[in-house]
Amino acid sequence: MGPIMHFQDELKQKAAEAEEIILRYLPDKKGSLSDAMCYAMKAGGKRLRPVLMAGTYRMLGGSEKVVEPFMAGIEMIHTHSLIHDDLPALDNDDFRRGRLSTHKAFGEAMGILAGDALLNYAYETMLKAFDLTEYPERVVRAMQIVSDKTGIHGMLFGQSEDVENEDRPLKEEDLFRIYHHKTGALLAASMAAGAVLAGCPDETEQALTAAAYDLGIAFQIRDDILDVTATQEELGKPVHSDEKNHKTTFVTLLGMEKAKDLTEEAEKRASQVLSDYPESRFLVELFRYLTCRTA
Ligand code: IPE
Ligand code: IPE
Ligand code: MG
Ligand code: MG
Ligand code: MG
Repeated sequence: MGPIMHFQDELKQKAAEAEEIILRYLPDKKGSLSDAMCYAMKAGGKRLRPVLMAGTYRMLGGSEKVVEPFMAGIEMIHTHSLIHDDLPALDNDDFRRGRLSTHKAFGEAMGILAGDALLNYAYETMLKAFDLTEYPERVVRAMQIVSDKTGIHGMLFGQSEDVENEDRPLKEEDLFRIYHHKTGALLAASMAAGAVLAGCPDETEQALTAAAYDLGIAFQIRDDILDVTATQEELGKPVHSDEKNHKTTFVTLLGMEKAKDLTEEAEKRASQVLSDYPESRFLVELFRYLTCRTA
């Protein structure tokens, strides 16, 4: 066993590992389109999804490089979702990850195209995993998972419901459904792809997918809480964005205390699943940290 490390230092180290991998897989092409893609990708961010993917892969005994193009790919998909989420037609937010949003820095047309190009490049990147494995069928399955959880059954469906329902009164069950898709799906893709690449049985993939969806609920409610309680300096993105866009959130619907209770309940369910795995300590601590995070 290595030296005892505090969780925050451990997370920093794992995010730095993810960062190095992400940078290595960025396009080296010159020109406005790739400049805009790299601007968004290099702005930092927590790198949660690749950290979650690698954490799941390692928890289940994975130790190869095949996970690396998937770590980069999922962060590209996530960053594409942020670029488009900030566009005037969606949340219309001018800052992201501590700097101007991509459409503010490069213009709206280039923001739209950079988002599209990152989504496409994610698949170009994940295809490189075939050169890094003796188990191509695992790569195929992981790509199926990522594509399914990104598109009309996953994140993009959630985003469409999110914008469609601005200004409409929503019930708790509607919000759960929207959060499940817009946020939970990419976390589920991260954990499930990591699990499948490690060669896990179907039951493990399903159990960890369910845990990731619960983490997604906790994570998005925490995001909504921070939109009300934090500062732009802390978050690197504008606060009170939800109020500006007349979004119903669990904070507006149930109040701050009940919203916090829901994050705790969701995290508890998710951690319960992890307790079945002997090497789950890092992920358990990560789930806890993300539920209480201040940025
Ligand atoms: C922001 O995701 C979008 C949500 C799902 C709330 P993150 O909070 O993971 O953003 P970055 O990657 O750290 O910038
Ligand atoms: C967006 O939720 C989730 C995505 C899929 C991008 P938000 O709109 O609340 O995310 P932030 O607060 O802008 O990061
Ligand atoms: Mg949004
Ligand atoms: Mg937004
Ligand atoms: Mg938000």
